[in-house]
Amino acid sequence: MSTPILVTGGTGNIGRHTVALLRAADRDVRILTRSSRASQPGIRYVQGDTVNNVGLDEALAGIETVLHLAGGAKGDDVAARNLVAAARRAGVRHLVLISVIGADRMPIGYFRMKLAAEQEFERSGIPWTVLRVAQLHDFVVPIAKVLSAMRIAPRGLRFESVGVEEVAERLAELTLSEPGGRVADLAGPEAQDVRDLVRAFDLARGRTRRLLPLRIPGAIGRAYRAGENLAQETARRGDQTWTEFLAERATTRVAGEG
Ligand SMILES: NC(=O)c1ccc[n+]([C@@H]2O[C@H](COP(=O)([O-])OP(=O)(O)OC[C@H]3O[C@@H](n4cnc5c(N)ncnc54)[C@H](OP(=O)(O)O)[C@@H]3O)[C@@H](O)[C@H]2O)c1
Repeated sequence: MSTPILVTGGTGNIGRHTVALLRAADRDVRILTRSSRASQPGIRYVQGDTVNNVGLDEALAGIETVLHLAGGAKGDDVAARNLVAAARRAGVRHLVLISVIGADRMPIGYFRMKLAAEQEFERSGIPWTVLRVAQLHDFVVPIAKVLSAMRIAPRGLRFESVGVEEVAERLAELTLSEPGGRVADLAGPEAQDVRDLVRAFDLARGRTRRLLPLRIPGAIGRAYRAGENLAQETARRGDQTWTEFLAERATTRVAGEG
């Protein structure tokens, strides 16, 4: 019988989709979460905190494979260090990490923190897999909402957002495979100017708005204009476009309201 897979962040957006796929592959899952939750068939929740280093030994007892998705605005580097140390104590055999495209190129704290987390995994001495992904379509929604409301479009800012189901599919596949090191990045089907992303967002809501161009100053602006947040040619591409995502979202919202 195979051992359960520990998923940190299994209650989050990407995590929920990935856990469902691991369950569909007939694997038991243990989920580390900061809240207290009742277990379900095939899923056991263990309370703990990766940043504050709480509950990790209990969560990792008897675990061979860890999928580390837990993350927030701060502390992902510390969380990775705590998790790796606990994984060593527990004799884990495969560590899988989600990271972000541009982790080694974008001059922004979030990206630097993700790179530091990658390095913790790479130096762990435990066989590892790291998948860098682009921003999710879901992540671009609040950005499009704010830019539309403010009627501005930062010049040269592009995203190649990707569907959460496609990210989850790849993560489940990698978790169930042998350790692969840094595997090909995963991005959405196309890099799109934020002006076009907001226009499509507005159209999906049945309106058009004139957007004023805005210049992002400094090193961050230069990095975005140079496309340092975008995938290279070697990346895998998901199929779901931003427009398809918006159409699907509109259908779900209408159905949910009805
Ligand atoms: N969204 C994107 O566009 C994107 C792109 C590239 C990479 N990523 C990375 O993918 C990962 C998952 O993203 P997501 O969008 O699914 O995030 P999400 O929906 O915000 O979920 C965050 C998850 O992290 C867990 N978590 C946060 N802090 C924790 C802590 N200190 N200890 C234990 N668990 C903690 C939460 O669990 P509880 O609340 O249950 O404790 C929750 O399950 C993150 O690492 C994120 O940086 C996201």
